[in-house]
Amino acid sequence: MGKDVIIACDFASREQTLDFLSQFQQEKPFVKIGMELFYALGPDIVHELKQRGHKIFLDLKLHDIPNTVEKAMRVLSQLDVDMCNLHASGTIAMMEAALRGLTRPDGSRPLLIAVTQLTSTSEERMRRDLLIEQPLDTVVMHYASNARSAGLDGVVCSPLEAAKVHEVCGPAFLTVTPGVRFADGDVGDQVRVTTPAQACLLGSDYIVVGRPITAAADAVAAYRRCCAEFIG
Ligand code: C5P
Repeated sequence: MGKDVIIACDFASREQTLDFLSQFQQEKPFVKIGMELFYALGPDIVHELKQRGHKIFLDLKLHDIPNTVEKAMRVLSQLDVDMCNLHASGTIAMMEAALRGLTRPDGSRPLLIAVTQLTSTSEERMRRDLLIEQPLDTVVMHYASNARSAGLDGVVCSPLEAAKVHEVCGPAFLTVTPGVRFADGDVGDQVRVTTPAQACLLGSDYIVVGRPITAAADAVAAYRRCCAEFIG
């Protein structure tokens, strides 16, 4: 599996999304569609971007009882996306059910990636709100290892955790990593950031990049810079 840059299309409308993507004449970036866009526009936006030749990471972070997740994943597998995700905290049984639902009759399926602990959850909140006493890092690695046991393809994590995830789950287990910023760029609300070049050195398989590309004066140039730093 080659490394790739995934652009987070965090837009509120079809027009904004298509206006943004129409700037890319020579390349077809891998794009991430999140809850905002999917809940507003539904499967139509997935079909439309797929038809335009983009690979799609559908970032809906499913979390429910195994039977419900299995049936929901069966529907998502028919959308022909390339990657989708769920919360590892839904348990190994839920992740196994998701994988069954996602697998098409011909045996093919999109990549399935687990969210471990959200980066918005601090160790203190995890202890206070969720009554989880273990260190955050231990919990993240445990969830990653559960995802691996369930047969998933990888996890969403920080580039700073990518090497350890590979140590625990093996080099082929994918790390999909947001929190990427150019060395001379705005950090915004991200806390622990790395550059695309650092993410590459740390072993990330895919970087998810939003505002450094979507808010750039020249989005195509920013995307190319990202690819050059990360993929080489
Ligand atoms: O604009 P920016 O590069 O910060 O966008 C990062 C994308 O990755 C956003 O869509 C954000 O929701 C997502 N994400 C994240 N941190 C996580 C999980 C997802 O930033 N832990």
